[in-house]
Amino acid sequence: MPVGNITRGTTNPNRLRRVDRWISTLPVLRHTKDPLVVDLGFGASAVTTVELRERLLHVRPDVEVVGLEIDPARVESARADLRKWGMVDAHPPLSFELGGFETPLPDARRACVIRAFNVLRQYDESAVDAAWQSMLAAMQPGGVLVDGTCDEIGRVATWISLTPGALGAPGALGTASGPQSLTISLRLDGLEAPSIAAERLPKALIHHNVAGDPVNALMTDLDRWWSIHTGLGTFGASQRWIATVESMKANGWPVLAGRTRWRLGEITIAWGALGRV
Ligand SMILES: C[S@@+](CC[C@H](N)C(=O)[O-])C[C@H]1O[C@@H](n2cnc3c(N)ncnc32)[C@H](O)[C@@H]1O
Repeated sequence: MPVGNITRGTTNPNRLRRVDRWISTLPVLRHTKDPLVVDLGFGASAVTTVELRERLLHVRPDVEVVGLEIDPARVESARADLRKWGMVDAHPPLSFELGGFETPLPDARRACVIRAFNVLRQYDESAVDAAWQSMLAAMQPGGVLVDGTCDEIGRVATWISLTPGALGAPGALGTASGPQSLTISLRLDGLEAPSIAAERLPKALIHHNVAGDPVNALMTDLDRWWSIHTGLGTFGASQRWIATVESMKANGWPVLAGRTRWRLGEITIAWGALGRV
């Protein structure tokens, strides 16, 4: 039996563009010998899986994408989508299979990337760690699991990146395993307050946006610097956001990546700053 529960299948075309753009930059995609990518919990339509594949083909022309769903009816419906779109014999292959957090893959292969978007948000927080461990155990060394959430049309998105141990097993000796970072990615035009992200945080964090918690400090500081840099909006929302991120960094937040990412409305914070293990 696939591990997990059938939940709402809501999805939308182009909804996951922000995270896909970020996944496209992952070094593992370029370096792995087996570019097998999993879209876990693709929902009521095959559309975001097809889009993921199209985006990744630009950086890895031999990428193979497998969409996994715990709902057998959605697997059938995605396969019907493939037939309708003439993609049954796509090369490299694109397929849809029944599966849960155990992430079943053919021939004992492992995934270099797992995108699990808007899946864990419908579970209790207490289920998150076991789900993470299960998915991480199905990954290649150096692989990246992306557990995230977004709004209906993808203007507000947040995700946690996680890595397995060097041996592909969580907790492997001497290797970084588990959560590595939190990314917030926002449409900047018309953005009133970056803390809009609070209502779309991944399940592991969403209930921790309370006074005294680092998650709340992150939201408060983002709003403060965004407000302080209002004047820079004259030069464009990107300039205002870059100044916001630079101020966050100058004031002690362990901000990762650089301006190329920031100008897209992203900020990535090292996981250690969020006060969770
Ligand atoms: C809200 S939809 C997300 C669709 C798409 N990923 C998106 O972000 O637009 C969540 C889907 O995850 C599926 N799901 C929930 N738990 C799962 C699990 N353990 N393994 C695979 N799929 C799961 C649900 O059946 C549902 O279709």
